[in-house]
Amino acid sequence: MMLTRTLRSQCAMPALGLGTWPIKGPKCIDLVRTGLESGFRLIDTAQMYTNEVSTGMGIAQSGVNRHDIFLTTKVVGCNQGKLTRESVEMSLERLGTDYLDLILIHWPNPSLGRAEATWETLANVREEGLTMSIGLSNFSLTQYDALVDATGVEADVNQVQIDPWARQSELVDGLLERGVMPQAWGPLGTRAARHNTELDWSVLETVAARHGVSPHAIALADQLGRGFATVVRSSNPEHQLANLKALEIELTDQDKADLAGMAQETVHLYDSTVEEEF
Ligand SMILES: NC(=O)c1ccc[n+]([C@@H]2O[C@H](COP(=O)([O-])OP(=O)(O)OC[C@H]3O[C@@H](n4cnc5c(N)ncnc54)[C@H](OP(=O)(O)O)[C@@H]3O)[C@@H](O)[C@H]2O)c1
Repeated sequence: MMLTRTLRSQCAMPALGLGTWPIKGPKCIDLVRTGLESGFRLIDTAQMYTNEVSTGMGIAQSGVNRHDIFLTTKVVGCNQGKLTRESVEMSLERLGTDYLDLILIHWPNPSLGRAEATWETLANVREEGLTMSIGLSNFSLTQYDALVDATGVEADVNQVQIDPWARQSELVDGLLERGVMPQAWGPLGTRAARHNTELDWSVLETVAARHGVSPHAIALADQLGRGFATVVRSSNPEHQLANLKALEIELTDQDKADLAGMAQETVHLYDSTVEEEF
């Protein structure tokens, strides 16, 4: 039985999910199929990833019942505003399904100024039953509060960048206080490479040695232990199984203290007031 988080919508979302960015085509079909065969039950895609068709094919090939899978997609910047509703229908068609479990606004894109209209459309799309839950991605607390003030619509989830070197405690606490489930993207810190930041895995390795698991599983177990959700990507079935071990790890108080004390290297954090994706 997969650990789940109960969202504001009362839907149960698997706490540990499988990411698909930036894998496309046959490699994405294989990633999704093997991930589901390994035991993942949340698949995270996005219009921007141009892999919704292969994600749908991977789901079909896995033989796992669609209703046993929590499927997330995201509205890309160029589909914000008047195109949002049609883009959701196109996502459904590409994914080969008649509903989504969760649709997110992928980035706030402040210079575009269409987040409010997009958010109201997603609330309507949920009313119509095309998605069970709606959420955001890469919204700061300030951006979240402004959106809710303007629309009166609260979110089920905010998918944000969190990893062992950027624990984002203030953001996590603020979202949980608002009843929004944080979901980590990039939970292994791989985006640090874009700043040539060398990450120090030694604490994760020390804790991993105590439990006889991979340091990657420790990073995920720590995120789960902090009470939120996380999506990790692997195309390698052995890594997929190793990551699922995170669900079985019981971190000790010493482990938690060691992980919480890791040096923070937040230089690789994206800033959604200036970073935009269309
Ligand atoms: N909302 C957003 O703006 C946003 C942004 C970025 C990502 N995302 C979502 O979040 C998901 C996860 O983030 P991410 O893909 O950027 O990074 P990630 O999951 O932190 O890291 C993925 C990398 O870690 C490796 N890896 C995974 N498990 C491993 C293991 N057990 N041992 C060794 N290496 C391992 C993978 O290689 P192998 O394939 O070889 O295992 C891959 O290179 C994405 O796929 C996407 O769905 C969302």
